[in-house]
Amino acid sequence: MTLLAVEGVSKRFPARRGLVDVLSGRPRQAVHAVEQVSLEVRRGETLGIVGESGCGKSTFARCLVRLYEPDEGAIRFEGADVLALQGDARRNFNRHVQMVFQDPYGSLNPRMTVGDTLAEALSVHAVVARAQVPARVRELLDLVHLPADAAERYPHEFSGGQRQRIGIARALAVEPSLIIADEPVSALDVSVQASIVNLFLELQARLGLTLVFITHDLRLVKHMTHRVAVMYLGRIVEVGPTADLFAAPRHPYTQALIRAVPHVKPAAREARRNRQAAVTGELPSPLKPPPGCAFHPRCPIAQPACAQAVPALEDRGGAWPVACIRVSG
Ligand SMILES: Nc1ncnc2c1ncn2[C@@H]1O[C@H](COP(=O)(O)OP(=O)(O)OP(=O)(O)O)[C@@H](O)[C@H]1O
Ligand SMILES: [Mg+2]
Repeated sequence: MTLLAVEGVSKRFPARRGLVDVLSGRPRQAVHAVEQVSLEVRRGETLGIVGESGCGKSTFARCLVRLYEPDEGAIRFEGADVLALQGDARRNFNRHVQMVFQDPYGSLNPRMTVGDTLAEALSVHAVVARAQVPARVRELLDLVHLPADAAERYPHEFSGGQRQRIGIARALAVEPSLIIADEPVSALDVSVQASIVNLFLELQARLGLTLVFITHDLRLVKHMTHRVAVMYLGRIVEVGPTADLFAAPRHPYTQALIRAVPHVKPAAREARRNRQAAVTGELPSPLKPPPGCAFHPRCPIAQPACAQAVPALEDRGGAWPVACIRVSG
């Protein structure tokens, strides 16, 4: 069952122009941050979105929650056209689709206690009657395993991991059906990351949440998602069931990414070999993506045809879609 359906979404930003560009009348270029992305989020699943820094993950996430208006494409939430929502319907959408950010500190008001922050979220959307707000705040803190006295304290009094718990509690306050988490643990110490990841897993199971989990860390994706979409330079190059995709990645880019993941307990020789197989070369500029398949300049199996046309994301004889003309079966 599809909760959120994305069809052909693109988002471009005007590139910054230097004085020379302006004086010489060079045409304004565009950063192709997200290009023609189609994707469905199924009710109750955790969908991972992975890709290198700058490939458009955050831009895509922001399009999903309408922090950015896409330049092209359509987004449907429970069948409704998200980009056309107005008034109450838009407020309802804003309530049901919540975002959790990498740095909750930036989105928490430093002058408000945690209790007031949660109470505010509860009252903006009138989630519970006024008299029930304090009890609901306690429940929320309990849900994310923070002590009840956290309500009287300010964001700066907490550690990074605890602040992320506050960010999650605030997202949960409005009883969303979908949470989009953009690198929610990448600013945290590795030891703290696991506890936040486990919290997401626990909440997902307990509350039946649908979760889009965005990260550049493939180990997290492997550990906690049902399906995974791999992005490269603004486009999805492969999307499939996580376990199957990790066992037998189809796109050459996905293959290289997975080979580069350090195993949990690697044999020394194995680890060396894996590092050598990592993606080589630089990520091209999204100002001027390579023609055809954007991965072809770095691809070990590229052919001249790969530079001709952008490959469609299709099944190509396999169990899940992949955007590569060299893949069959
Ligand atoms: N507001 C903006 N104005 C101009 N360019 C932008 C803007 N936001 C993002 N970009 C550019 O769009 C591209 C995609 O950026 P985005 O932040 O979506 O990538 P990302 O995958 O989230 O990267 P990271 O892993 O570093 O968070 C980058 O080239 C970035 O420089
Ligand atoms: Mg990002």
